[in-house]
Amino acid sequence: MCKEKQYEELMPQIEALIESETDMIANMANVAAVIHETFGFWWTGFYLVKPTKHSTDAGDTELVLGPFQGPVACTRIQKSRGVCGSAWQQCQTIIVKDVHQFPGHIACSSESKSEIVVPIKRNNEVIAVLDIDSSEYNTFDEVDKQYLERIADMLI
Ligand code: SME
Repeated sequence: MCKEKQYEELMPQIEALIESETDMIANMANVAAVIHETFGFWWTGFYLVKPTKHSTDAGDTELVLGPFQGPVACTRIQKSRGVCGSAWQQCQTIIVKDVHQFPGHIACSSESKSEIVVPIKRNNEVIAVLDIDSSEYNTFDEVDKQYLERIADMLI
């Protein structure tokens, strides 16, 4: 089945899953599960913008691991670090066709070959990112970006 068709079938499923639940973490957990299962990605999950571990200043934030499916992953990522930290800093989706070519890529697993990171924004401020890793090169393109950005909006 082509990717567009898979996403078209996925969208109403996601809507149904999250429409009656207001807890964002619960919704992120189900969204990670349904995306992961539909496409068989290597890793599908969320990082949330939260205060740093020993923060004394509320403005001192980093990405902290949230609901995900797949192998264990690094728990904290600083702003501008790796693909996730870059998508957060730039406030835009980043598609990486070959993670080995991305300077500063954080290798949580050597199996990961390509990646997409979509920021989740509330009032124009990034509050989390959706991160998906594939065990193959060149997995993600504009189609994934379009649909995943719609999914990101649905979570807010
Ligand atoms: N590769 C990511 C780190 C998170 S893991 O892939 C789950 C990055 O460079 O931001």
